[in-house]
This record gives sequence, C-alpha cells and structure tokens, in this order.
Amino acid sequence: MTNVFDVLEKLEKQSSLEKSRQVDVPSDERMLAITKETGELLNMLIRLKNAKNMLEVGMSVGYSTIWCAEAISENGGKIITIEQNPKKIKRAKENFQNANVTNTISIQEGLAMQVLREFSLQEEYKEYFDFVLIDADKENVIEYFDMILPMVSIGGVIITDNMMYPEKYREDMKKYASHIQANHNVRTITSPIGNGEEITVKLR
Ligand SMILES: C[S@@+](CC[C@H](N)C(=O)[O-])C[C@H]1O[C@@H](n2cnc3c(N)ncnc32)[C@H](O)[C@@H]1O
Repeated sequence: MTNVFDVLEKLEKQSSLEKSRQVDVPSDERMLAITKETGELLNMLIRLKNAKNMLEVGMSVGYSTIWCAEAISENGGKIITIEQNPKKIKRAKENFQNANVTNTISIQEGLAMQVLREFSLQEEYKEYFDFVLIDADKENVIEYFDMILPMVSIGGVIITDNMMYPEKYREDMKKYASHIQANHNVRTITSPIGNGEEITVKLR
C-alpha cells in the first residue's frame, strides 16, 4: 500500500510521458487522463459540496477516480465508475489498491450507453447522484448528459472534460455546450481549467 498522492504522482509522470510521446503506448492503452489541476478542482468541488454519491463515465486507469475518491471517502461517499476496456480496468484496480481507495469505488464494466440505460430504469438512481464526471467518448456526450440529468439530485454538479482540448473534439463539445445552455433546468459555465471543464449545476 502507498500514499494516495504518491500514486497520483506516479500516474502524472506516466501521463506526461504519454502526452509528450516520449513513450510509445498503443492507443487503447493510453491513460488520456484529466490534468492535475482538474483533479484538484474535482477534489475541491466534492469537498465544498460535501458530495456523497458520484458517477463517473470513463474511468481509464483511475487517475480522475482517485482524485475524487480521496475527497469523497472523507464525506462517507462512494463512486460508481464506468469503463469498457478490461486492460484499463485491471490497471485501475491495482492503482486503487495502492492508493487504498478500493472500498470507495465500484466499477461497472461495459459500454456507457448500456450501463446508463440500465441505471435510468432503476428507481433507486432517480435524483441519486450529487456529483458526476463525464469523460468517455465525445460522440455520445449529449446522449450521456440527457440520460444522466434525471439521475442527478437538485443542486447536483456535472463536470464534463475536454471542452477546449484536444482540438479535434472542439466541434462536438461546442454542440454539447449549446445543448446544455438551452436547458433552463441547469446553470452552466465553461472553465478554462485543464482541458476545459464544463461545470453544470442542476437547478430544478
Ligand atoms: C479520457 S479517458 C478517461 C480518463 C479518466 N477520466 C482520467 O482522467 O483518468 C476515456 C475512457 O473512456 C473509455 N470509454 C470510451 N468510450 C466508452 C464507452 N462507450 N463506454 C465505456 N467506456 C468508454 C475509454 O476506454 C477510456 O478509458
């Protein structure tokens, strides 16, 4: 067992090697992680909100999940996180064990759309989540938001990564921002932190 911040630091080193292409990692094994400052923001928001029931869409090897688990465990909360790639799930489990956050996290293996559809049919998840991170494939991001919103409590927060970078996602993310801005049941801002974070609060 290692300190949670030692695990995060190790993953940050791995992530920057990947981003600078100093190591050649097959595309399906890349971490594609949020930045450290986004991790700090998520951790701070969870603390400010005293969030207890978190949903993450797109776990990868668990870097963002660990940042959130460090805060949510102190609130007595839990994270449900969705990931489709078995190799990444295996690495995430090792990272969770090393960071001593395994008991805070429940992994749902599978396609996000399928898992979210199943969740949305379950009464227990109606207005259940008070904190959500959307960070999987970008083509389906509007559908994910629409499926998740009824599962978010009033005052609950949805964070969406990659609003600005990488640039290849910009068109998809612009459509996403317009979609949320048109919804009068939420208030939303795009923050330039990290890769650009959409911070959305459910009003009613
Ligand atoms: C950007 S990475 C997530 C990074 C992670 N949130 C972090 O910051 O450490 C996106 C992840 O979503 C997963 N993913 C992509 N499409 C998915 C889908 N349709 N269902 C489930 N997982 C998916 C990918 O395998 C990848 O690991």
